[in-house]
Amino acid sequence: MRTLVVDHPLAAALLTTMRDSRTTNPTFRAALRDLTGILVYEAMRDAPVERFPIATPVAAAEGTRLNAPPLLVPVLRAGLGMVETAENLIPDARIGFVGVARDEETHQPTPYMESLPDDLSTTPVIVLDPMLATGGSMVYTLDLLATRKARDITVLCVVAAPEGIAALEKSGHAVRLVTASVDRGLNSDAYIVPGLGDAGDRQFGPR
Ligand code: PRP
Ligand code: URA
Repeated sequence: MRTLVVDHPLAAALLTTMRDSRTTNPTFRAALRDLTGILVYEAMRDAPVERFPIATPVAAAEGTRLNAPPLLVPVLRAGLGMVETAENLIPDARIGFVGVARDEETHQPTPYMESLPDDLSTTPVIVLDPMLATGGSMVYTLDLLATRKARDITVLCVVAAPEGIAALEKSGHAVRLVTASVDRGLNSDAYIVPGLGDAGDRQFGPR
């Protein structure tokens, strides 16, 4: 699996805001939106494009557009906070949804909804979830995408744990991971350390 850790001062500053336990929910959401923009830029850096003729008010010129706009897949709830920025940057993207909550005792993924196109064989997919902890929720999501024949998958996370990366590797799904940080590991509650706490609760309040 290819992993890109985005090393940029602005990304680091936004991640600091998200990590800080004093950060309010609205400020946390704003930092997540802005950091998502940086992660999306990096994820799309080598996206295939096509050229087409346009006219500026002054002269003929060459335009550029994405060959194949991706499907964005936020993993609910926490991934919802990344969608608006991603779709603003990629207006032609479609959006699918996966709802999966981690059981607080067992840390196993508990799915509760999905809404995805049937055939993803020719569509690049970008999965949005701020946290990759044990990797259970992401492997569940990748399994779903595999049943739709998705072949070109990028996972966008704010913080990843080495355990989650290992789980993605073990799953055998050919994905690319783009993240702002690979943290130290998980604590006994399977929270990422140092992490940023519960990304869903910090955006939307406790469940
Ligand atoms: C969080 C996070 C991931 C998952 C990561 O969601 O957004 O989806 O935990 O943990 P894992 O890698 O161990 O599966 P959570 O289940 O807390 O739900 P929420 O987004 O609805 O708050
Ligand atoms: N889910 C979160 O939101 N945070 C963690 O640290 C682990 C799982």
